[in-house]
Amino acid sequence: MASDSHPERRGLLAAVAVCAAIGAAAVAGTLYFAGERGAEAAVAPPPVATEEYGRRLLRETPELLGQDHPDPERRMIGNRLACASCHIDIGTEPGTLTLLQTTEHYPRFSGRAGGMTDIEDRINECMQRSMHGKPLPIDSAEMIAMASYLRSLGAQYAAMGASSKKAEEPAGFKTPTRRADPAMGQVVYSTKCSICHGADGAGLLSTGDPRKGYLFPPLWGPDSFNDGAGMGRVLTAARFIKARMPLGQPDLTDDGAFDVAAFINSKPRPMMANLDHDYPDRSTKPLDNPYGPYADPFPQDQHKYGPFQPIEDYYKALKQAK
Ligand code: HEC
Ligand code: HEC
Repeated sequence: MASDSHPERRGLLAAVAVCAAIGAAAVAGTLYFAGERGAEAAVAPPPVATEEYGRRLLRETPELLGQDHPDPERRMIGNRLACASCHIDIGTEPGTLTLLQTTEHYPRFSGRAGGMTDIEDRINECMQRSMHGKPLPIDSAEMIAMASYLRSLGAQYAAMGASSKKAEEPAGFKTPTRRADPAMGQVVYSTKCSICHGADGAGLLSTGDPRKGYLFPPLWGPDSFNDGAGMGRVLTAARFIKARMPLGQPDLTDDGAFDVAAFINSKPRPMMANLDHDYPDRSTKPLDNPYGPYADPFPQDQHKYGPFQPIEDYYKALKQAK
């Protein structure tokens, strides 16, 4: 990870190492003083649709769009994650969940939506699922600002040299052929994850003030992503976890990432309404989509935890028969 360009991240990781040594009680205090977020005043920015405002919206999402915002029109998200909780370094690093290439990816067909989607639609999918919120009006300052930030990343990517386009990540996740084991995942979780995300998965707030959101985001419970989110799919989560977690030193095996992803996704989280309307053509549902209905005879448990090979073979055979 190119930590040189992210001094606050380096500070954060150093603080985490210290915290590991001196115990969790000191964590909040240490990070409060070390973090850049602690110094900022809780003043709402004027909603001017600049690229810089877009960047702040992705990083300070709970403060700018959370349920406690003084302006009811701006209460757009239902949890307290930031876009940057998953799109690490606000999407500026190449690799898993990067946003550098987003502008190249759209418009495109989405099986989930059952039609063509553009960048604005995709932002709103994360708004409604990952952020458990409401779609932003297309002509709102927030939408225009986020889209212009993403376009600026596209320009940044185009100007980058080949070597800086390479992701510094472990080898890609390879799906184990067995069913994922949430009980084994719990063991991984308590040795590798709970130091930051908490034994109860509830994370750690940035400051004492919940409106400011989390330093270590929650992995389940009311402030986490909902059950319609991409991170709720075991393979999507395992890919992300293998590439990015533990933050700053990703070192899980495929099996470890698979099991811990299953453990996290076996836990309660906010629920999204009308999930049965997703994927109007059910045969386009990803194999690991955790909610039905399905176009195949496999039970929901198998879609949630695997094994995935039999499902993959089923669809392959179907295609060949056509
Ligand atoms: C809980 C994790 C999570 C959070 C929080 C989150 N996203 Fe995402 N986002 C994802 C996942 C998973 C994908 C799908 C990636 C894929 O299809 O490979 C995604 C995809 C995207 C894409 C499409 C990327 C591409 O190149 O195709 C955009 C744009 C995006 N998110 C924007 C946002 C914005 C803006 C926010 C905040 C309002 C946000 N996301 C919050 C997990 C998250
Ligand atoms: C050193 C602290 C640390 C450790 C250890 C750690 N994480 Fe994270 N994790 C973070 C931070 C911080 C973020 C948010 C990204 C950011 O703010 O840059 C995050 C984000 C996430 C997310 C996406 C956001 C969300 O809330 O869903 C998932 C999933 C996740 N971590 C899973 C794990 C798993 C599984 C492990 C153990 C294998 C782990 N993490 C270990 C610090 C950590």
